[in-house]
Amino acid sequence: MSRLLSLVTLSAITVAAVVQHPLTDGYNSQILINTKPLVSSEALEGHITSKNLLKRAKKLFEIAELGAADYNHPTRVIGSAGHVGTLDYIYSTLAELDDYYTISNQSFKAVVGNVFESRLVLGDKEPESTSPMSLTPPTKHKQAVFGPLVLVANQGCDSSDYPSNTKGGIAFIERGVCSFGTKSAVAGKAGAIAAVIYNNEEGHLSGTLGEPSDIHVATFGLTKQDAEPYIKDLEGGKVINSSAYINSIVSKAPTTNIIAQTKGGDQDNCVMLGGHSDSVAEGPGINDDGTGSLTLLEIATHLVNYEVNNCVRFAWWAGEEEGLLGSDYYVSQLSEHENLKIRLFMDYDMLASPNFAYQVYNATNAANPVGSEELRDLYTTYYEAHGQNYTFIPFDGRSDYDAFIKHGIPGGGIATGAEGVKTMEEAAMFGGTPGQWYDPCYHQICDTVDNLNFEAWELNTKLVAHSIATYAVSFKGFPKRTGAKVATRDEPSLYHGPKLVM
Ligand SMILES: *[C@@H]1O[C@H](CO)[C@@H](O)[C@H](O)[C@H]1NC(C)=O
Ligand SMILES: *[C@@H]1O[C@H](CO)[C@@H](O)[C@H](O)[C@H]1NC(C)=O
Ligand SMILES: *[C@@H]1O[C@H](CO)[C@@H](O)[C@H](O)[C@H]1NC(C)=O
Ligand SMILES: *[C@@H]1O[C@H](CO)[C@@H](O)[C@H](O)[C@H]1NC(C)=O
Ligand SMILES: [Zn+2]
Repeated sequence: MSRLLSLVTLSAITVAAVVQHPLTDGYNSQILINTKPLVSSEALEGHITSKNLLKRAKKLFEIAELGAADYNHPTRVIGSAGHVGTLDYIYSTLAELDDYYTISNQSFKAVVGNVFESRLVLGDKEPESTSPMSLTPPTKHKQAVFGPLVLVANQGCDSSDYPSNTKGGIAFIERGVCSFGTKSAVAGKAGAIAAVIYNNEEGHLSGTLGEPSDIHVATFGLTKQDAEPYIKDLEGGKVINSSAYINSIVSKAPTTNIIAQTKGGDQDNCVMLGGHSDSVAEGPGINDDGTGSLTLLEIATHLVNYEVNNCVRFAWWAGEEEGLLGSDYYVSQLSEHENLKIRLFMDYDMLASPNFAYQVYNATNAANPVGSEELRDLYTTYYEAHGQNYTFIPFDGRSDYDAFIKHGIPGGGIATGAEGVKTMEEAAMFGGTPGQWYDPCYHQICDTVDNLNFEAWELNTKLVAHSIATYAVSFKGFPKRTGAKVATRDEPSLYHGPKLVM
């Protein structure tokens, strides 16, 4: 509907242009391009409707159903027909937009893991909180292995923490100081046949080993509460014969980032934004991150009606749920020259949680590349101007901005909440149900079209449109890039993607 309208507008302008240039053909594309108005927030926001977003969400759910052939339920996880369908949908929608964008596929190999079955028996008990780590290798020959539970000193980050009887045993390691992947590797080097990492604070411990390594051993997480009796017994010198079993695979599969950049605008000064095209295996991921992906796609179809002063670069990342694989790969492939062309990166992941809060990443200049805070303030100013409350949330590596800020590119973004619990105070600020997750269907089969709050989605999509239009018009007052140096943060992030890494 709005696309038809805009075509009508364009032909009207063309007629005017023809009057001024009587010798040119009526439908000269050069004239069309030259006569588009400069984008503005108001104009771009004016195209956004809940109705269009709903239509796209329904389409995406149909695509997710293609994943059911292999997964028995709708999913858009990388490697599934649902993800391939998502990429085709994004690509073909962009390809229909005449010649406005340069579209490219960036293929890379993504690490994918699947734990089919697992079991941990410590002494004569199976601790209830046992959770195999993502991307864990299987136990030897995918069979149960047997050995004593061995208490590791300190946090098991150093070979010297491992007693000599670790060889042939199951290493029992406290969380903290280094990543789960490092602990698993050091345990493997010490000859452990499996490893159990127990939490150093309250709560479930489920994480990922991250980048696979040949010396990783089969690794589980455990709560502190479940671990305590064993620690006591081991410290008392008791022998706890145990067994571990994980049947899993870790493999590499090709997948694709899709990038679309306006042909117009200063090609050396780009505003970049991204959402992730994949979901988890457990469900269709319509909120996570169907909403971000579709928001970008919807805006991309309307931006074509306008001129831009600065280039706009859209990205649909693959493999976010496996640990930010697509965005990591993309940034790793940028030369310094290319890196410096990206003035900022805006991350849009989960924009319509049913029990939403308007969340703004607390991306300050003190802790991030300079410019991050100016972007943060653009979001908060917008919510204030629209009479809405907002909260700041940690900018801690849980989504695709991570590689950008680690390579000197200012970043930020907005979200509406995942597995966090809405407080009483937030219920007063945003409505909804206190004591419940922002998205009760986070990473589950019920993340369908019914899981979306359209009030939040529409306002956030307008805000995304505003963020694009603002920087597409001008970077006046926005800090210049200073370098592509890899930044070291004071505190290492607990996350790299949706799962804990340490
Ligand atoms: C890019 O990838 C999309 C999605 O897989 C596909 O539909 C399209 O044909 C590819 N285009 C090119 C030029 O490879
Ligand atoms: C543990 O296993 C070893 C070797 O199989 C055995 O000799 C020992 O008696 C067992 N200890 C306990 C406490 O079950
Ligand atoms: C935002 O981050 C800064 C540090 O960069 C911190 O001082 C401040 O307390 C944070 N604000 C919130 C609300 O988390
Ligand atoms: C913002 O939060 C306050 C409570 O802190 C509440 O009274 C007000 O209604 C909220 N505004 C909106 C638009 O929900
Ligand atoms: Zn996500």
